[in-house]
Amino acid sequence: MKQRAFTIRIAEYDHLEDLPDPRADLVRQAMEAAGRAYAPYSSCHVGAAVLLGNGKIITGNNQENAAYPSGLCAERVAIFYAGSQYPDVPAKSIAIAAMVNGIFQEEPVTPCGGCRQVLFEKEMHQGVPLEVILYGRKKIQVLRQATDLLPLPFVFKKAP
Ligand code: THU
Repeated sequence: MKQRAFTIRIAEYDHLEDLPDPRADLVRQAMEAAGRAYAPYSSCHVGAAVLLGNGKIITGNNQENAAYPSGLCAERVAIFYAGSQYPDVPAKSIAIAAMVNGIFQEEPVTPCGGCRQVLFEKEMHQGVPLEVILYGRKKIQVLRQATDLLPLPFVFKKAP
């Protein structure tokens, strides 16, 4: 029997202004995007902003639907849109923020399991780390790479 341990490093900041450039701006864009979310069912408005290798910033937000599972999370809206428009440009950083009743969450917002899998695959596919910035009013957390969110992702090898 062997044992394996995974360690992740998280940088924590008390204030948005303390984030090294251009991260504070990316968070602000995620916060603005949250304001444009379509979330009449959960009232949880999530925003994501993705910084691409070409300097462009793509934002997305959650889009809900009366047929609940048909909705999509903010992170996936942003990452899929980025992939659809700039398939060969890596995503360098993604910021995520969420608010309920117009108030941003105190604790940093962490992506759901499905979004972690999507962020992981984006990172693998592009071969460049995808930094993840989780915004909370109390603190902001920065993870160096999306893989840190999902140590045991789903992968499969195609039959030869
Ligand atoms: N949501 C996101 O946008 N991102 C996540 O990582 C988790 C949840 C959305 C989905 C749904 O519209 C609302 O938040 C409540 O679950």
